[in-house]
Amino acid sequence: MRLIRVPCPAKINLTLKVLGKRADGYHELETVMQSVSLLDVLHISDTPGTLEVGCTHPLVPVGEENLVYKAAKMMRERYAPAAGASIQIEKNIPLAAGLAGGSSDAAGTIRGLNHLWGLNLTPQEMEETASLVGSDVTFCLRGGTALARGRGELISPLPRLTGLWLVLVKPPLEVSTGAVYQAYRPGDSENRRDTRRMLEAVASNNLNMIAENLFNDLELVTRAWYPEIEAIKQELREYGARGVLMSGSGPTVFGVVDGPERARSLAELFRDRYPESYAVYGLPPLEAGEI
Ligand code: C5P
Repeated sequence: MRLIRVPCPAKINLTLKVLGKRADGYHELETVMQSVSLLDVLHISDTPGTLEVGCTHPLVPVGEENLVYKAAKMMRERYAPAAGASIQIEKNIPLAAGLAGGSSDAAGTIRGLNHLWGLNLTPQEMEETASLVGSDVTFCLRGGTALARGRGELISPLPRLTGLWLVLVKPPLEVSTGAVYQAYRPGDSENRRDTRRMLEAVASNNLNMIAENLFNDLELVTRAWYPEIEAIKQELREYGARGVLMSGSGPTVFGVVDGPERARSLAELFRDRYPESYAVYGLPPLEAGEI
């Protein structure tokens, strides 16, 4: 039996623009995504013939509805009908938080099984499988900094960012992504900022400009339901964060801060009231073949 370990990073959205609703019920997006150093870890071993998923977090369902199970099943059906695996999820990324924890675990499953089962899939084959599992899964295959379009599955890599330090604060609420998109109305866009400025900021690794050009069209929806989100943003600003935003459909809020010490001291400060607070930094993308 072989056992491999697959790190699965959380992501944040530096921008998220909703361009409109599509005929298939999804929303057309333009979003700049960034993977960060808060990691789930998969422990995958090859077992003959069966698929088995377990998780350290008691509230994570481990049956058909689990994205890891869904991804593993799809990999087996498409590429290795006789293969099996046991996948244990070491969960550190908060659930239903806007941090793509489940999607990242699914992407890690695709990378891990490709390696463990010796499939030698092309990036295109892995991306296609990922997009069938969920909208954020394709980005999570490689991570780093990227622009995502379509329903989030069409990825254009962006230049690697360095020195991006953040504090993440997740209030004790779970938010359904589907419900947030359903409640979104075009007038909810708070401002006219566009993605172009963020792309310029990323291209020049200008952290101030990144902090100034954060925006998320979904924020007004989730903020209207949960006033904690605005309160946390305000407090992060008061403590000197250069820019603050809700990630994805929420409720996690992040602040762009000056460096590791600031990130750690702020995470510590918030942890008393919000145990799910973390100091993190932006990660580079995985190299081809890296798991
Ligand atoms: O693709 P995923 O399963 O992660 O999406 C969860 C839900 O979020 C979808 O069922 C849909 O309601 C909503 N969604 C959307 N537009 C997107 C992505 C997600 O409406 N681009």
